[in-house]
Amino acid sequence: MPAMIARRLRRCTQLAALFPKCPQNRLFSSFASSAPSLPSSRVLSPSYSSQLTRGIYVIFPKHFFSTSTDSVPSTSDKSTFERLCIHGATQTQTKPMGLEMDRVVCDNKEHGEKLESDSVREAESNSVKEKDVEMEMSGLEKEAWWLLNRSVVNYCGSPVGTVAANDPGLCNQMQNYDQVFIRDFVPSAIAFLLKGEGEIVRNFLLHTLQLQSWEKTVDCYSPGQGLMPASFKVRTVPLDGNSEAFEEVLDPDFGESAIGRVAPVDSGLWWIILLRAYGKITGDYALQERIDVQTGIRLILNLCLSDGFDMFPTLLVTDGSCMIDRRMGIHGHPLEIQALFYSALRCAREMITINDGSQNLVRAVSNRLTALSFHIRQYYWVDMRKINEIYRYKTEEYSHDAINKFNIYPDQIPSWLVNWIPEIGGYLIGNVQPAHMDFRFFSLGNLWAIVSSLTTQRQAEGILNLIDEKWDDLVANMPLKICYPALEYDEWRIITGSDPKNTSWSYHNGGSWPTLLWQFTLACIKMGRQDLAHRALEVAEKRLSNDKWPEYYDTRSGRFIGKQSHLYQTWTIAGFLVSKMLLRNPELASILTCEEDLELLEGCACGLSKSARTKCSRKAARFQVLV
Ligand code: GLC
Repeated sequence: MPAMIARRLRRCTQLAALFPKCPQNRLFSSFASSAPSLPSSRVLSPSYSSQLTRGIYVIFPKHFFSTSTDSVPSTSDKSTFERLCIHGATQTQTKPMGLEMDRVVCDNKEHGEKLESDSVREAESNSVKEKDVEMEMSGLEKEAWWLLNRSVVNYCGSPVGTVAANDPGLCNQMQNYDQVFIRDFVPSAIAFLLKGEGEIVRNFLLHTLQLQSWEKTVDCYSPGQGLMPASFKVRTVPLDGNSEAFEEVLDPDFGESAIGRVAPVDSGLWWIILLRAYGKITGDYALQERIDVQTGIRLILNLCLSDGFDMFPTLLVTDGSCMIDRRMGIHGHPLEIQALFYSALRCAREMITINDGSQNLVRAVSNRLTALSFHIRQYYWVDMRKINEIYRYKTEEYSHDAINKFNIYPDQIPSWLVNWIPEIGGYLIGNVQPAHMDFRFFSLGNLWAIVSSLTTQRQAEGILNLIDEKWDDLVANMPLKICYPALEYDEWRIITGSDPKNTSWSYHNGGSWPTLLWQFTLACIKMGRQDLAHRALEVAEKRLSNDKWPEYYDTRSGRFIGKQSHLYQTWTIAGFLVSKMLLRNPELASILTCEEDLELLEGCACGLSKSARTKCSRKAARFQVLV
């Protein structure tokens, strides 16, 4: 092991040896300026791997040259933070005035260690609310910030992410909610960035990059190189049989431990999106130019762009490969993945360093973007006119210029849709496959399609019109329904496999997820419809704190806290804060949005007209894809 790496590892080890009692101030003074770093090649000891990852062995990627997080452009004032040691890691916290914590100690039987978590003492919390009555809004934000800071996870003395939930009532039933989820961290990251705190985001990006190519296997099969984990956990383990000293390791989960063994296709896409946002807001473009970061981007793109048997430009994935990570009938080409895919390609195209080695990749990215936007705009969009067209489709058309290309049988149009589709507006449907259209409305996919300019301007307006018009179905008592409508009766039984967590109007099956507020706000700002975002925020503000920031709500109108909902769910808290901050500074939305790229559209229509063996006309092209 090179001397430099050994030195770095020891530093990390010394820190871990201090656990579980962290002498607060020493942590930041000794580590804030030092780079958390890991060796370039390492195999976990069999005893550790069998204890934690069961027969899985882990190797660092060869491409990982440097993990230095030197010269972090952090504007955070650490002196204002109080530090506590929770869950065996340091937590950086800013306490709102008068809000005190109860310490709850839980036994973690599996690992035989004491885990500590905190519960907010309600009476005192209420008194805080009383004190802040004149400034109710800022009181709510203060509470949210305090909770968000409480969820920060440290690795080797530096913040690297936020736990999914910090629910004191569920110490022993946290499943993997005590881990840092890639997708869940995105709103936390944006909140920190908007507040001027870049360090945690930079650390997160670099450490997850290290995890990217760890080799993990499920029944002797390993996922493709470039896959990003769904989540990771900082574990404190004894250092080489020494019972006095400990070291910290990052233990990623690529789906090999996840319920249902679902592969997180969205993780790498979110990572790219966040990397661009980080550069745009901090001005630290040097991070994305680093060779290891460029390699990371390339690995994700190669994985997504690799050839398969597929006929469509959309990404083919298994069920549960995104925010909806349980069986919900979204295998194939689900909208959420396509919107994130498009967005990540757009972001990557901006960040890839152009040289001889990258030219082909950039070309492939542009071609895919072109084809993808055409495909989604054309085949996923439904409105009154389109549904009427489908209603009158001829089937079994064998020809190049078939109108009903996917051989959709009109009987598939669900009865709920006939009355539901408004005269004005429309939306992108959930999935398109041979002889199959999933007509459910999925919020995240539609919102992110607006944010990334995957939709046309008219379609984007149409989606927000539809949300406005169908407010009682999609927002009602809590923004925002994850999908509409719910699967019921036989459909629920067959499609979810009788999943008791996904019963009708609960969880992924028509539940309401407050975290979606930040994506909704972004889409509204992009389209100049802040009025809608304000309205939704008002609804959420009335309940989130009293209900203890739940993960999701149940029932058709989102009236009840979800049956199995975690409380103090971090992305609920962060989503609220991001929404607040963006509405206060709408110009900052541009760190996440993309504008229409006419060059891509021209490429699209030229390609199309060639395949139709007609002359290419740029004007016709624009017309075809913009309208
Ligand atoms: C649930 C959600 C998933 C989320 C995770 C952690 O599994 O379905 O989207 O990332 O919880 O909050």
